Amino acid sequence: MITPPLDKDMNLEPTLEGRTRLMHIVQEYTDNFLDTLSEQKAYQGDKYNKVPQDSDFYIDEDITGLKDLLGLLHDRVDQPGLNPASGGHLGYIPGGGIYTAALGDFIAAVTNRYAGVFYASPGAVRIENALIRWAGNLIGYKKNFAGNLTSGGSIANLTALAGAKTAHNIKSRNIENSVIYTTKQTHHSVLKALRLLSLDECVLRYIPTDIQFKMQVSELENQIENDRQLNLSPFLVIANAGSTDVGATDDLQRIAAICTKQNLWLHVDAAYGGFFMLTEHGKKKLKGIELADSVVLDPHKGLFLPYGTGIVLLKQANHLLNTFSYSPSYMQDAKDYEQELSPMDLSPEMSRNFRGLRMWLPLKIHGVKPFEMCLNEKLELMRYFCESIQKLGFELGHTPDLTVAVYRYNPQKTDRDTFNRNVLKKIHDDGKVFISSTNIDGAFWLRIAILSFRTHKREIDILINTLRELIESDI
Ligand SMILES: Cc1ncc(COP(=O)(O)O)c(C=O)c1O
Repeated sequence: MITPPLDKDMNLEPTLEGRTRLMHIVQEYTDNFLDTLSEQKAYQGDKYNKVPQDSDFYIDEDITGLKDLLGLLHDRVDQPGLNPASGGHLGYIPGGGIYTAALGDFIAAVTNRYAGVFYASPGAVRIENALIRWAGNLIGYKKNFAGNLTSGGSIANLTALAGAKTAHNIKSRNIENSVIYTTKQTHHSVLKALRLLSLDECVLRYIPTDIQFKMQVSELENQIENDRQLNLSPFLVIANAGSTDVGATDDLQRIAAICTKQNLWLHVDAAYGGFFMLTEHGKKKLKGIELADSVVLDPHKGLFLPYGTGIVLLKQANHLLNTFSYSPSYMQDAKDYEQELSPMDLSPEMSRNFRGLRMWLPLKIHGVKPFEMCLNEKLELMRYFCESIQKLGFELGHTPDLTVAVYRYNPQKTDRDTFNRNVLKKIHDDGKVFISSTNIDGAFWLRIAILSFRTHKREIDILINTLRELIESDI
């Protein structure tokens, strides 16, 4: 006889009563988190040593109650380090964490639909394809395009560049002769993707940027011509629609025109900037994005979802299919039901959670308008921040295209880099808001990225006032 593990504590299937009790504990925890969020610090560097290495995180034979585990989570996970849910998170590229997306995750996990194949869950795949259609239309793709919901921008970049490699038939015999063009503003996840795809064996040309950190298009054109003279094969241009470092948007329209004329693949990394297409300002800045062969967007950035969702779009679906589609014999039954493209045929993944629900639910419940309004608010906050700190005497590194800016103070008496490093350290020590820094041509710059849906004038004023106090205190 096979005995199921019915012992109460070993039961993996709680009763209704048990579920209600667990949900109550979880809801109390998450409600408390959200209700105290505006008072919580955005960064708690001083709490790092509260996370001992040999701690209660280890898995052993002991069991622990949910309440105790949430206590551990509170003290050792949700306190130390960066708090990306906070509106005071103004560093790197802030994430989001809208509540209805979390509910989508919860429902998707409980129902556990298999969203890799249409046959297994036509509804889940139709919802994900509807999201891809919406995102494609948002950037101006019309038809024949396809895409995939990924875990984030890095995997989306990898997927897109795999498609580019297939489309241009890059093989070991021609790889060293093929040329890729980009700028120093390009995110390292793109370089990582090139390495994973062995495309780091191509010739990589960094095209110089102008004072706004945008690719100099005439230099791109010249370099392509030079490379052709050298009997090389120009193949791919990677442009930015909101670089991470400074938020720079390349002139996509002009770059696309060159790519069309020269038969090059144009990939646009819009992981940070893409959802600004919901705003009039963004549409102007990203003009020409619809001409790209592949585009990456990150809903866990500009659509304020919790971490875990990126989007890759390819203008021609066949390039994704040619890269990723297989027909394993044990899946032969699925073939009879293929009414729509399946994520499995468009990405490296197979078994896959229904990650579309966390994006679909918020868009259906709230509509698109609040997202557009939030993004417009971020653009206004950026203008307000830039004006305010310039009045305090800070130097801006460039005129921000979107909501990332770099800035520094030029002190009279002390070394500039040391002074600005101290400013950063003091802001980190205080922790009410969090900013980051970057290095441009060897110089230290403070950096702000405004993107969280929870960032409002209050948080920007905290930063401006702190900056004012720091320069007045002559640190
Ligand atoms: C422009 C850009 N591309 C790609 C990425 C990588 O995306 P992810 O962190 O979602 O993997 C980022 C992340 O910040 C980004 O800003």
